[in-house]
Amino acid sequence: MDPKILGEHFDHLTTLHESGNPDLANGRRSLPLRKTPECHQMPELYRRMDRVDKDLLTAFRRLAAGEYSWPLFLHGAVGTGKTLAALSLADFVLEAGYWTLEALCDAIMDPESKTTLAWKGVRETRLAILDELGERSKVGDLQYTTVKKHLDLREQRAGRVAIYISNLTPEQLVQMFDKRIVSRLTAGTVVALQGKDRRATEICEEKS
Ligand SMILES: Nc1ncnc2c1ncn2[C@@H]1O[C@H](COP(=O)(O)OP(=O)(O)OP(=O)(O)O)[C@@H](O)[C@H]1O
Ligand SMILES: [Mg+2]
Repeated sequence: MDPKILGEHFDHLTTLHESGNPDLANGRRSLPLRKTPECHQMPELYRRMDRVDKDLLTAFRRLAAGEYSWPLFLHGAVGTGKTLAALSLADFVLEAGYWTLEALCDAIMDPESKTTLAWKGVRETRLAILDELGERSKVGDLQYTTVKKHLDLREQRAGRVAIYISNLTPEQLVQMFDKRIVSRLTAGTVVALQGKDRRATEICEEKS
C-alpha cells in the first residue's frame, strides 16, 4: 500500500463512536437520573440516599455527570453499606438491573433457559450492578466466564455503565480471578467504603 495513503488514514487518531462522543472510549458516559427515586423490582431493602457515605455520593454524582469513568468498582468490609448504596443510586435510574454473581450464575444454568433473558437484561439495562464478587473461596469456571461476559457486554454495548461490588480489595480479587479481569473491573472509578459493620450498629440501636 502507498505509504502516503496510510499516512492520511492515520491522521485521525481517534475513532469516532456512533454518538460522536470519543469520551465513550474512556468509559465517561453520563447517566440520566430521575428527580425522585423509585424502587424497581430489585431487592426491596430499606434504603435512603442521604445515608450513603459522602465520598461515595460525590463519586455517584460525578459518574452520573460523565466526569468520572465507568465502571465503578466498590469494595469494603462486610456491612459497610455497599449493596444499599448501589441500590439507592439504581432507584434514581430509569432502568437498572441488579444481580449477585450467584443469582446470575443460577439464571445462566437454569434448565428452563432463563439464560438469554438474563444476558438481555445485562446488555440492555442503563445501569447494571453485579454484587458479591469473590464471595466463595474458590472461583470456578462458571463464575469466571459470567463475570467476563458481563464485562464484555457492558463494555461493548453500554458504555461501561456498571457497578461491581466485592468484600475483597482488587489485590485480593486477583487471587480469585486473575489480573486481566481485575484490571477491567477497576479500569474506571474505584471506591473503598470504610467504616463499621452497619448491621451490627443497627442491631445495637434496636436493643437499646
Ligand atoms: N443507605 C442506606 N440506607 C438505609 N440503610 C442502610 C444504608 N446503607 C446501609 N444500611 C444498613 O446497613 C446494613 C448493611 O448494608 P449493606 O447490606 O448494603 O452492606 P454490604 O456492604 O453490602 O454488606 P455485605 O458485604 O455483607 O454484602 C443494611 O442492612 C442496612 O440496614
Ligand atoms: Mg452486600
